[in-house]
Amino acid sequence: MKDQRGHSWAEPYKIKMVELLRMTTREERDHAIREAGYNTFLLRSRDVYIDLLTDSGTSAMSDRQWAGLMMGDEAYAGSENFYNLLGAVQEYYGYKYLVPTHQGRGAEHLMSQILIKEGDYIPGNMYFTTTRLHQEMAGGTFVDVIIDEAHDPASDHPFKGNVDLEKLDRLVREVGADKVPYISLEGCVNMAGGQPFSMANLRELHAYCRKHGIRIMLDATRTIENAWFIRRREEGYADTSIKDILREICDMTDGATMSAKKDLLVNIGGFFACNDEDVFLKAQNMVVVYEGLHTYGGLAGRDMEAMAQGLREAVLQEHQDARIGQVRYLGTKLRQYGVPIVCPIGSHAIFLDAKKFLPHLDQNLFPAQTLAAELYLDAGIRAMERGNVSAGRDPLTGENRRPPLELVRLTLPRRVYTQAHMDVVAESVANVYEHRDTIRGLKMVYEPDYLRFFQARFEPVK
Ligand code: F0G
Repeated sequence: MKDQRGHSWAEPYKIKMVELLRMTTREERDHAIREAGYNTFLLRSRDVYIDLLTDSGTSAMSDRQWAGLMMGDEAYAGSENFYNLLGAVQEYYGYKYLVPTHQGRGAEHLMSQILIKEGDYIPGNMYFTTTRLHQEMAGGTFVDVIIDEAHDPASDHPFKGNVDLEKLDRLVREVGADKVPYISLEGCVNMAGGQPFSMANLRELHAYCRKHGIRIMLDATRTIENAWFIRRREEGYADTSIKDILREICDMTDGATMSAKKDLLVNIGGFFACNDEDVFLKAQNMVVVYEGLHTYGGLAGRDMEAMAQGLREAVLQEHQDARIGQVRYLGTKLRQYGVPIVCPIGSHAIFLDAKKFLPHLDQNLFPAQTLAAELYLDAGIRAMERGNVSAGRDPLTGENRRPPLELVRLTLPRRVYTQAHMDVVAESVANVYEHRDTIRGLKMVYEPDYLRFFQARFEPVK
């Protein structure tokens, strides 16, 4: 991929320390995946060669972040690192108040319990697994209001993360604005393939929500990456910095939950941030019960320092050029092999379209789960299912949800793998694609109650 001036990108860093990888034999992988119940979440990482399970907590930290760890002020209360993080969040995201949490779902828990009442509806630009579960556990019902294009892997829409204002308005008219405490707005929508929303769409949403007294709560997990896409694709933003775009986004929202394990280049951490003092006071009080004191929220002081530094690095143009550039490199290669992937190429991962990849498998045979297991078997590459298993069951009917998107996610950790690793990945996927006709499905033999994709076990169908 070329940058805006038509030049190639390169990693804006050099490598100071390495971690050796272990290659396995086909026999070892056969054994490992059987032991793991054909669920890549249950593999041991020592049995994985290239780990594309997630971009969550898997980034390589910079020397400055590691140095930050040494600056940890491990005071129980009032750690200096908390104030450094608070300053960075106020500067870059612009929210007034901050409550650190151990990771994103800790923040989702606080926010859902505070803002949602039994019987409420929470519209969102597609669901995320933990986000929706916390909404449901607080007595709410999630309603998908993303544009239709997001559910179509072949659609080329440049902003597939956009909210469909008509869908939102239909909901609001049906249930009343007082039953809609907020809209949950995610940047670079994970389940849609890392697809951004546009500033124009957010501006319209903001006007709508102002009028109806509905809050906009941002899932800020990958919003810096979203800002990169706005700069790249949206008219009028080519000369605006990622930092300024990020602020413009946040200024139109009322608060955010954050999994810092993504954009912010740390191995653990998250936060809840907002501008409303009452909401903040409730979150600050609740965090003491569930996470830890309000100046550490389940983190060590050093984790907060690494997060503050990660934020400064994450908004750099050259960082995002290389980060998203690598994703595009892999996606472009896969396209050249004819492999069906979600269009356009998104922020953090390449999503294989498992329905197209394995058209002979019914969705009840878990094509994406099957494909992830096959990829592991081929060359030890670990991916993640994002389809029928992740979607879970409808709480009312108990039936599998059978989502339109049945995907396998090849997720790129930030600053970890090289272009040569991407070549190996692309060759392996192409190899599996060549013998796709021989691939059979899976049946689920163990199903946990919550977030089943993490721990479910499978067996090959006969
Ligand atoms: N929101 C989004 C958009 C996410 O992608 C995640 C996590 C969370 C919230 C929850 O944050 O894991 O820190 O508790 N996504 C990871 C992934 C797990 O692999 O996509 P968390």
